[in-house]
Amino acid sequence: MKINRREFLLLTAGLAAGGKALAEGATVAAGAGKVVNIGLPGKFPADGVYKDFRDRGIFVVRQGGKLLALSAICTHRKCKLTAQADRSFYCPCHGSTFDADGHVTHGPAKKDLPSLTMLPNEQGELLVTLPGS
Ligand code: FES
Repeated sequence: MKINRREFLLLTAGLAAGGKALAEGATVAAGAGKVVNIGLPGKFPADGVYKDFRDRGIFVVRQGGKLLALSAICTHRKCKLTAQADRSFYCPCHGSTFDADGHVTHGPAKKDLPSLTMLPNEQGELLVTLPGS
């Protein structure tokens, strides 16, 4: 289940009001998914793939001035992907590969990596919503 911007703002405002602001790196459940605070956009200054949040299932990609969050979980059977030097992604479990935009370039995976919703909070930190489990 996805949350819309209004629900998102209410959630983050509620957390802040409760004295439990979502600190960088923290995760909180939101509906069917979880929200991860990946920090300020300045943490990702140059084009490339940032692996800081791979263990949380997120690759942050800066490309041509745009910042996006891609799932770091293989769409075949949910293994964690590794980022390659050429900005592609490799699955060590069965060998699937994905290009820098998350498109499948080699199976057995058939589905592209999903782009994850990323919205700023009041402090300008980016909050990424993981798919529900
Ligand atoms: S889990 Fe990634 S290729 Fe099978």
